[in-house]
This record gives sequence, structure tokens and C-alpha cells, in this order.
Amino acid sequence: MSAYEYETHDYDVVVVGAGGAGLRATLGMAEQGLRTACVTKVFPTRSHTVAAQGGIAASLSNMGPDHWQWHMYDTVKGSDWLGDTDAMEYLAREAPKAVYELEHYGVPFSRTEEGKIYQRPFGGHTTEFGEGPAVQRTCAAADRTGHAILHTLYGQSLKNNAEFYIEYFAIDLIMSDDGQCQGVVCWKLDDGTMHVFNAKMVVLATGGYGRAYFSATSAHTCTGDGGGMVARAGLALQDMEFVQFHPTGIYGSGCLITEGARGEGGYLTNSAGERFMERYAPQYKDLAPRDYVSRSMTMEIREGRGVGAEGDHIFLNLNHLPPEALAERLPGISESAKIFAGVDVTKEPIPVIPTVHYNMGGIPTNYWGEVLNPTKDDPTAVVPGLMAVGEAGCASVHGANRLGSNSLIDLVVFGRAAAIRAGKVVDAGAPSAEVNTNAVDKTFDRFDGLRNANGSIATADLRLEMQKTMQADAAVFRTSKTLAEGVEKMTAIAAKMDDLQVTDRSLVWNSDLMETLELDNLMPNALATIHGAEARKESRGAHAHEDFSERDDKNWRVHTVSRVEGTQVDLSYRPVVIDPLTTEDEGGISLKKIAPKARTF
Ligand code: FUM
Repeated sequence: MSAYEYETHDYDVVVVGAGGAGLRATLGMAEQGLRTACVTKVFPTRSHTVAAQGGIAASLSNMGPDHWQWHMYDTVKGSDWLGDTDAMEYLAREAPKAVYELEHYGVPFSRTEEGKIYQRPFGGHTTEFGEGPAVQRTCAAADRTGHAILHTLYGQSLKNNAEFYIEYFAIDLIMSDDGQCQGVVCWKLDDGTMHVFNAKMVVLATGGYGRAYFSATSAHTCTGDGGGMVARAGLALQDMEFVQFHPTGIYGSGCLITEGARGEGGYLTNSAGERFMERYAPQYKDLAPRDYVSRSMTMEIREGRGVGAEGDHIFLNLNHLPPEALAERLPGISESAKIFAGVDVTKEPIPVIPTVHYNMGGIPTNYWGEVLNPTKDDPTAVVPGLMAVGEAGCASVHGANRLGSNSLIDLVVFGRAAAIRAGKVVDAGAPSAEVNTNAVDKTFDRFDGLRNANGSIATADLRLEMQKTMQADAAVFRTSKTLAEGVEKMTAIAAKMDDLQVTDRSLVWNSDLMETLELDNLMPNALATIHGAEARKESRGAHAHEDFSERDDKNWRVHTVSRVEGTQVDLSYRPVVIDPLTTEDEGGISLKKIAPKARTF
């Protein structure tokens, strides 16, 4: 007997999350006539994609020569050779198509004089397989690209009769005894009712878990809900140790200043007024990839060349750019700098600091978005009925480090791919499987336990402990000592989940309970991150290990697979996909071209 009464809904597909990936998947499913529901804890256009500023990468060649092979090469090198080559090829090849589709759906891109989509330079995007100058590959709608995409995709989804369940919090997946996903259990936040969504395919598009850290550009809603649900279902997370720090979060608030600011000609300086990136990355300077720039900034600060009273940040200079260019290309960040740093960008530099921005790791998938349950014998085994897309998933196209503007393209390419695949594997006419009521009951038991939690620690206090520990011990630079301490501290912090105190027992607009459920999701993500980082004895991409400063392809060109149960994390490894989808003879890229080498800029 279930602890709660619930209403049952039946769909072909249920998408959880309404950011860029969730909406692109929803739209693609609905366009094919699949009965599609999108369940979201926030209003769709408030999803975190709305904060994406600088743009979306695709080799359109609107501003000069470009090729998808160059884009693929940059993505492989950007990933520090940890990305899966088939997925990276799929991303770069499909990107132009996916962007033109967005244009036709109505995304109001900025335009060139000839009326083409405007593209700007972004870090790590180059020409001639990393030998030529930086390329203008990032398609932009001023510095509000995510906002423009989200509004367009939401409108199109409604037009295609997708059904939205807004401000429904997904509590857990419903898994059958033989490991098939059958749906999801949700709590409707505004009236306290419970809902069971029965579906032939569930798509997790729940975003990242930036809020496991103290200072992040991510919205407060980025709590790794998909990762939490997957971990509780006994499924795996992948490559969680790779956490991206964006070089230019506003000092103090963590608010994002787009990399597009450097793309438009902005540059970083230290306390001596020196453009220090010229020393670290002589070829691409301020347009080196994010891991590179964040490490360089941290080194400047450590060596006493930071700016400000405490010498603990860096300046981003835009004041040499024409005010009209700032107003046209960067209006959003000009406003953010004023509000969050009190800076007039036409006159003064913006104080910035590397800030947690993106999770390269997530729920492992193939390049169709199907969730994998890797075993030793079958590293690519698919979980029937379950997909993950966007930042929640790990396809893996970003490997150890994501290139700026490859996130928005990941959202739409793989949201679209998931819909294409669902069109093939979901039998729209067939009746849905009967849901596993034991799984539903178990979900309500966990929910009820947290709702009535009567321990001694407030959710906000435990969350802060976790955030400060992750910020200190899984930082831009890591050492064996900080990581070992981090594992120990995080284990103790996670154990305190049993001693939580929730004071509000109601079911209507209970933010205390919702934040507790979110913390229960953040915790396995954080545990997998610190354990994966502690175990990886090399430096690669965003994982800069001071005691193992070199990349070690012989031993560590492998994906970390973590399974989290309570405070325990079990780690294993699976091979990286080395082969591209097409050979050189078929118009693809040669293996020699993308073979691992030293990663310099
Ligand atoms: O800097 C930015 O505009 C962020 C873009 C991204 O993370 O891809």
C-alpha cells in the first residue's frame, strides 16, 4: 500500500527538464507524433539554458573558411583526448544542420551585413587542425543566445502539441525488476499532489550539478537531479571528476561574463597591467580553452600578481572596445557587470575569477542519448527505456574539458538525436508496460522519510558544508592531500543525510522539502566527483593534479564509471571510443590527425 495517493498519466515519452536539451528532445518527439510530456521543476523559459550567453558552435563558415573536421579536431583536442570519437564526429557533423533548424524555427540570431548568422571567436576554436588562426565559429544572438533558443523551442513544442507539466518535481525513476525504465514519479509543487508518469521512454534532461560547489555560474536549480535518480536506481555516472571552471565569473557573485567578451576583443590583465595570457598561450592568448585560462589566472594569483585589495582576482578589460560594439554585441554582460560588480564596462575593467560552470561528466550515453549501464563484459550495454541528454548526460563529447559554445550545440544536436532514435525504438501504438508498484512505493517511502526528517542538521547547513568542501578540495588545482581530505570530509558529510531536520511538513510550496530532495540529488554527484578525482593519478583537461602533472594516456585514457550507494562509491573504468564514425576515404577525419599529442595553444 502506497504512502501517498497518486494520479497516473500515460505517454509514449516523458522528458524530465525543459532546458535546451529537454525542449529540443520534446519538440523532436512531438513532431513525430509521439505522445510527449515534458515535466519540469521550473517554468521552461526559466531553465538554466536561459543564462547561456556567448553562443552555439557550428562550422557555418559565415565569417571565413571553416569545416566540420576542424570543429571535430578542436573538440577532440579540447577534450584532452578523453571524449568519445564517434560522438564528437556526430556533434561536429550535425552542428550546422542543427543550427539552421534553429534558425528556421525562429531563433533571432544576430546578423552579418549580408544577413547571415553572425559568428564570433571562442576559446579553443581554430582553423587548419589547430595550426591556423582562431576561427569565428560561435553563432550568437547578442549575448543572450540561450535565452533566444529557449523561447523559440518552447513555442515550437507547444505548437506541436507537446504537453507540459510545469513545477512538477521528479522524485525518482520507476525501474522494472529486470532493469527497464518505465516512468517517473513526480510531486506537483503548487498543490502537493503526486503523479506517476508511465512512459515507454524517459529522457533525463535535468542539467548539471554546479550547486554542489560554493561559487558557481549555475542557477540554484542546478542540483544534478538526473544523476541523483540514476544513482539511486543503481546505475552509473561517468567522468564526474571533470568539473569546468569558467575563467570569468564576476568576483564575489559568481555571475557569468561570457567568453564572447574575449571573443569580441576583451583581454585579461594582472596587477602589473600585464596581458599575462601571452606568456601561457602564445598562439591563442586569451582565446585558449577554459581549463588553460583558468589555470593561468590561478597561477597569477598564487604568485602574487592578483588584483584587488586581497590580490585574489584578475581584471577583464573591455573598456578599449567601442561603446557601440559593447551595446550591440555584449548588452547583457554590460548590465550584469553594472549590477553585480558596480562596473561601467566602457570605463573600467571587470573583476573576475575562475568559477564553477559546467560538468563534463554525467550519465553515460551513446551518441543517440541512450543511457549505458557499462559492465566489464559489455561497456556499452543500453538501459531500455532511458535516455539522458544535455549537461545531465555524458555522450561523451567534452571528455576532460569542454570548449565554450560546444554546450549549446551539444544540447540541440543530442536532444535532436534522442528524438530521432526514439522515433525508431518507441512503439507508439503499443500499450505501456504495467508499472512496478513496488518501485513507486519505495519512492514514496524515501520522500516521506525526508519530509518527516527529524534530526539535528538543517538542509541549508549541510548543503553549505558540502559546497565549501567541494570548492576547497576539488578545485582548479588538486593534490593527493586535498583530494584524500576531500574524500574523507565528503563521506562524513554524506553520512549526515540521516540526521537532517526538515521543519515544514506540508506538501504545498514546501521549499524546505524540495531543497532537501535536491540535496539528496547533489550528494551522490559530489561523492562521485571527489572519489573519481582522488583516484585519477594524472592531469588531463580540467583535472589538474599537482602530484601527477602529466597526462598519462597509457593508464588513464579511460572513462571513470562510478556507482554511488549511500556514502559508498564504487569506481571502475571503461574504454574511450577511439574510432570515428567515418574513415578518411568516406570524407571523415584520419585517425592520425586526431592521435593524442601534447596539448599546447
Ligand atoms: O562564456 C559563455 O558564453 C559560455 C558559454 C558556454 O559555456 O558554452
